Amino acid sequence: MEDNLTLLQRIYDPQTFRQQGHALIDQLATYFESAQSPAASQVFPAQEPLSSYAFWQAEFDAPLRNDPAAFFDDVIQQSVKPHYPSYMGHQVAVTAPAAALAGLLSSVLNQGMALYEMGMVSVPLERLVIELLAKRIGYSANSGGILTSGGTLANLTALLAARALKAPAAVWTEGNQERLAIMVSEEAHYCVDRAARIMGLGNAGIIKLPTDERFKMRTDLLEPYLDAAKAQGLHVIAVIGSCCSTSTGSHDNLEAIADFAERHNIWFHADGAHGGAAVFSQQYRHLLQGIERADSVVMDFHKMLMIPALATGLVFKRNEDSFRTFQQRAEYLWNNTEADWYNLGKRTFECTKYMMSLKIATVLRLYGEAAFAAAVDQTYDLGQKFAKILAKRPNFELAMEPECNIVCFRVIKPGVSDLNAFNLELRQRVLEKGNFYLVQTTLRGVVYLRVSLMNPLTTEKELEMLLDELESFSIQRVFA
Ligand SMILES: Cc1ncc(COP(=O)(O)O)c(C=O)c1O
Repeated sequence: MEDNLTLLQRIYDPQTFRQQGHALIDQLATYFESAQSPAASQVFPAQEPLSSYAFWQAEFDAPLRNDPAAFFDDVIQQSVKPHYPSYMGHQVAVTAPAAALAGLLSSVLNQGMALYEMGMVSVPLERLVIELLAKRIGYSANSGGILTSGGTLANLTALLAARALKAPAAVWTEGNQERLAIMVSEEAHYCVDRAARIMGLGNAGIIKLPTDERFKMRTDLLEPYLDAAKAQGLHVIAVIGSCCSTSTGSHDNLEAIADFAERHNIWFHADGAHGGAAVFSQQYRHLLQGIERADSVVMDFHKMLMIPALATGLVFKRNEDSFRTFQQRAEYLWNNTEADWYNLGKRTFECTKYMMSLKIATVLRLYGEAAFAAAVDQTYDLGQKFAKILAKRPNFELAMEPECNIVCFRVIKPGVSDLNAFNLELRQRVLEKGNFYLVQTTLRGVVYLRVSLMNPLTTEKELEMLLDELESFSIQRVFA
């Protein structure tokens, strides 16, 4: 029986790491090669949850391995493959290989990040990344912010700042004294609703504004909805603009929301988890007009910008506001309540977090900001091209003209009475075959197939092939 020390020395053996690390890089390079080969298929390895569970249970129960290569190989084979150009599924980044290497570096060095002492490289890099993002948003040098673990947490953090600054009572110390509320479009990501509920706002405190025919917030209703909220005794602390919304990629009118928020001294938060990346694009920056007037902005580097999850920028128009979110003392970490920019734990939800800035800084050092602009331009352009392709095919119908790389459409077949069930079934067949990965959404009761064109190397060819496949499944389907 191996004693503890021998086991631990084996775990930390540098030669083993060298050999296993080289082997893993080779495996991943092969994955990247296969993704770029003309035969790249099987992007979606369809498997029922229980059969997948049984597979991995057998792995767990098997004798220990000396080498992780076969285990890693199974992981690669049985995962969805975002790097395949036929990946059109959910909004995850198709990660830049260099950013993934920085992820390995971060995993090895594992700096804690809550305070400068445990992030002496990645804390200043984080400030530089935030300063760049703030500049592109259009903020002045007075702005500031943090990187945090995902758009969900970033939206909650921003709303906590809004509460600290806009609620009549000091909720942090006094608890909820008034009935607080936020205003947001019915198409906003569910995490905004979740954040409001975590903050104790309840049903009445989440005022959902209807959307227009392009699924944008009806900003003409902001005033009457605010009046109605006041009449019910609610105190609105924040209004949230989606740029863009998740289902349809629609951009709310940020200028109109900013005007409203300024008129009523309400916090204006822009949820740009997906579309905020367009601040880096000259071509598509116009979609975000008015974002520079928001009090806070969220933008996920791990969606449009090729950075592995999670890495979200939360930027405040006024840096001092970022220190109002959490007002805590932690003597074992820092012994003051000053707004020192370098002790990040004062401003982040996380105590320990990984070296988020490293992956972003690596891409910037190697390719410059042009990399971010290219990823946005390429995928947003492809969204427009897809709309044109769909318009030429009579068996398909667009939900609406896309504004970015999210496109919703459906298959039309004369004689089919339940097109919703039909489209769901077609998607299921596509997934079972596994050559494409696309998702679905329901808009005002109508089921649509939905692609988010996250892979900058996807081309019109794959889009035509996807439609061919859907058409052939549609023809094969015989109705009783
Ligand atoms: C508009 C919007 N906000 C927030 C989120 C949540 O972000 P995350 O998955 O990083 O928590 C998403 C995710 O799709 C989103 O589209």
